[in-house]
Amino acid sequence: MNNNFLNDIDKGLSNTPKYLLSKYFYDKKGDALFVDIMNMPEYYLTRAEFDIFKNQTQNIIEGLQLNKDTFFELIELGAGDGTKTKELLKVLDTEKYNFNYIPIDISQNALDQLKESVNTELPHVKTTTKQGDYFEVLGSLKQSNHPKIILFLGSNIGNLSDALAKDFLTKLSDSLKSNDKVLLGLDLIKSKNIVLPAYNDSQGITKRFNLNLLDRINNEFGADFDTDLFIHQPEYTEEEGIARSYLVSTISQNVTIKSLNKTFHFVEGERIHTETSRKYNDTILNSYLENTSLKIIDKLIDSKQYFADYILDKK
Ligand code: AVI
Repeated sequence: MNNNFLNDIDKGLSNTPKYLLSKYFYDKKGDALFVDIMNMPEYYLTRAEFDIFKNQTQNIIEGLQLNKDTFFELIELGAGDGTKTKELLKVLDTEKYNFNYIPIDISQNALDQLKESVNTELPHVKTTTKQGDYFEVLGSLKQSNHPKIILFLGSNIGNLSDALAKDFLTKLSDSLKSNDKVLLGLDLIKSKNIVLPAYNDSQGITKRFNLNLLDRINNEFGADFDTDLFIHQPEYTEEEGIARSYLVSTISQNVTIKSLNKTFHFVEGERIHTETSRKYNDTILNSYLENTSLKIIDKLIDSKQYFADYILDKK
């Protein structure tokens, strides 16, 4: 039984306003739904970053100041299916860079699939997977003395609250040595008519992704959420630059979670906040980096100017 998850559910549903943590979206079904989301026409983020990895690979390599004579560890946090990274791996492999690829993800299932696909497509690339959440794995980075490149793509950091994201970057910075680099993929602040549909695709995949969290609680902890009685509601304002997703109770209802031996009441229209997806600009990123020894040294942008891969240097 996953006790952290159960404690977090109890904490979140006992809070006013109610919330659940988006890191729990990613069970086997959630992973698959997220892959489907990435293929939705409205979800521009993955395509925009793929555009950078495919068409500006040499700029990435130069920005990271990689050197063929020096062994390095290429560590990817929240690796997912690795589609973008494989574009970089391909070029590094062909050009005979000397490195190990170390993908880290909370989902063992995603890691298993990734390792298999890298082994098949790029048999010379040495891949070692690590399962865990971002914060847990930071400490283990210090265990090796090799130069490190940290990839943190997909605007994944945007799913953390501002306070947690700052804390994360501070810890990441403290785990690195001078001249190590971070490649941080961030979705840029842009108008509502582009961002909001990305979180409300017309085929309803994002809605299923959000509701899957309730199914997960039903399956793992004997809860009786009726997913037909909750609707998916995303919000975004360009001023704030944050997309938020909610599940809204359509009626007044009680939900019992057997493993907690507790019943939670929802009034009609009450919302559970399930996800935050922050968007960025240079000012916001610099404010995040204030208390770290990481400095922006380069920035690559996709052809539509939707997404940026920032290169940070550890001073
Ligand atoms: C993983 N993460 C960056 C996605 C995002 O855009 O916030 C998760 C997601 N949620 C709904 N659609 C995609």
